[in-house]
Amino acid sequence: MRKILDSRGGFTVEVSLRGKKKGARAMVPNSTSTGSHEVFAFPDGDVDLALSNFAKVKGELIGIGASEQEAIDSTLHKIGGERFGVIGGNIATGVSVAAARLAAAVEEMELYEYVHESFMRKLGVKKRIPRPLGNLIGGGAHSRNRMSIQEILISPSGVSFARGISANASVHKALGEHLSRELKISTGVNVEGAWVSGLGDEENLALASEMAGLAEEQGVDVQIGADFAASEYFKNGKYEYQDRKLSPAENAEFIEELAGEFEMAVVEDPMNEDDYGGFAKITRGIGKKSLVVGDDLYTTSIDRLREGIRSRSTNGILIKVNQIGTLSETMEVIGLAHRHGIRTVVSHRSRETTDDFIAHLAVAFGSEFIKTGIVGGERVAKLNELARIEELES
Ligand code: PGA
Ligand code: ZN
Repeated sequence: MRKILDSRGGFTVEVSLRGKKKGARAMVPNSTSTGSHEVFAFPDGDVDLALSNFAKVKGELIGIGASEQEAIDSTLHKIGGERFGVIGGNIATGVSVAAARLAAAVEEMELYEYVHESFMRKLGVKKRIPRPLGNLIGGGAHSRNRMSIQEILISPSGVSFARGISANASVHKALGEHLSRELKISTGVNVEGAWVSGLGDEENLALASEMAGLAEEQGVDVQIGADFAASEYFKNGKYEYQDRKLSPAENAEFIEELAGEFEMAVVEDPMNEDDYGGFAKITRGIGKKSLVVGDDLYTTSIDRLREGIRSRSTNGILIKVNQIGTLSETMEVIGLAHRHGIRTVVSHRSRETTDDFIAHLAVAFGSEFIKTGIVGGERVAKLNELARIEELES
């Protein structure tokens, strides 16, 4: 167990487990726009405190076999405190994922094969190579500029993963050139490698869709999406965009208009994180054409997904293991989602590591999308691993 740097220069943890003959490691990411219903990444945000608290209780885990995922995860809860407030959800996630990796290594299997064979197949979930969903333009809490939307996303449809990531990369490159050469905007990229343009929400959406159109020349249909992360700008009952203030009803309407105009394939967190009804209204409006995804709404929690299913809030869910802290709970959520036709998106976090476990989980979980950056070593690590898996599976 050690303290390591995340992609933004903060600290997170790497967990190393040793079995009799093999070992395995997992690095766990941090976030910026953290959902209020997530488990605590670290007690009081303090990595050192998490490590010293864990050192006192880790004895409870010794002797449990790496393949006994449920026993490991329930022990993590026993020693971890309420919402992992003692050992931190990131340490719990690291132990949980590293255990699966160790068990896979013992079986001489790839992590995705092991997770699928041991857990997902029983739930009737089929392996799937997801579509890449890449972050093209950044705003909101990730960038702090004129764009209130946190992420404008792009995703190629109907092509192999390898071809898809190359289409996304060429759109990313074309947009960078357009911003600097045509618009004379001095550009840079944000924490997730998305362009920070200095333009407003709708201008950026128009630009993204123009650039995505260029991929058609390569014969690839690249669709647009957005993570509004709307909880971040929901204040005193209003959605405070930089150029307008909208009531919840007006916001739902605005989102539906944008989704229609830009033919959005994915609409993530368009409403505040507790507004199951508001999400449901949007899903009724655009759910036939767009995947409406709950991230801060669900925080990978089965209780929250149950409520979402009852309220018909969304037709999609974002999956981040460290929002809930264990692989077992994440897999239960996946099972429930599949049973109810809720499509899944396995996601990176804003402050990543070079670990590629989400590439394996996306395939094992039968996910329709993997959401990560388009460029940047810690993002590309996931994309390249998925391209490798695609090769193994073909
Ligand atoms: P986060 O951002 O890691 O800062 O939560 C990613 C997202 O909101 O999807
Ligand atoms: Zn999100």
